[in-house]
Amino acid sequence: MAQQQNAFYDYYIDITEPNFVDKANDALNKKGIVTFEQNLSRDEFVSLSKEFGEVYIHSKSDDDGADIITNVYKQEWYRNFTARKFEFHTDYSKSKVPPSLLFFYCQQAAPEGGESILLDGRKLYEVLKETDRNTLHELCRPGSVIFGEDLILGSVFEKLPNGEVFIRFRYDNLIYFSVPVLNIMPKLQELFEELTITFRLETNQGYILKNGQWLHGRNSWKGERTGLRMMINSESPYGNVPLGFRV
Ligand SMILES: [Fe+2]
Repeated sequence: MAQQQNAFYDYYIDITEPNFVDKANDALNKKGIVTFEQNLSRDEFVSLSKEFGEVYIHSKSDDDGADIITNVYKQEWYRNFTARKFEFHTDYSKSKVPPSLLFFYCQQAAPEGGESILLDGRKLYEVLKETDRNTLHELCRPGSVIFGEDLILGSVFEKLPNGEVFIRFRYDNLIYFSVPVLNIMPKLQELFEELTITFRLETNQGYILKNGQWLHGRNSWKGERTGLRMMINSESPYGNVPLGFRV
């Protein structure tokens, strides 16, 4: 547990510093991830998120853009908004252009479990470029994956008009892989395991992720756990953190 806690502090920035937003923007552009800790109300969390760009209102958000992630069993057709394990994914992968930033804040940690699992897609890209260009090629092939209810045709690594690349992934009942991508899935899952970073968000801790660089998920938990989520479009001119990363 001590090691897991350390990983949280590897990316930690003190939210009370007056230049927190500048520092966080800088860290997000360099590493793609920031962690923070502070007792925040819902309004304060929303205000903090808004400092980074434009609120991305989506199908599950309330009027302020936030939504609550907790033990919900109403949507049994879609298993992930429950206390069960949530596999690696990109938030709002069903959008042609997903939001560039994801904010997650743990209001109440689970008594047991619920650890965040995170994976740096840029690191994955670099490893594949060094060790397995064929696999990388398949993961970049346009139209090799279909995402979400609206059947967005894309790929795991997708090139943006500005030359940057972003990662888009999910592993549930709303993704369809072409056969070549399906065939490399066991290898990809092995790499995911090797590159996974795990830490447990305690009450009042949170993270900010570049949604087009880091995949995120979480382990199952026992008891009650509540978190707040915001998606933010921080692309220029709304903010300073684009969706993609340079390769
Ligand atoms: Fe998510």
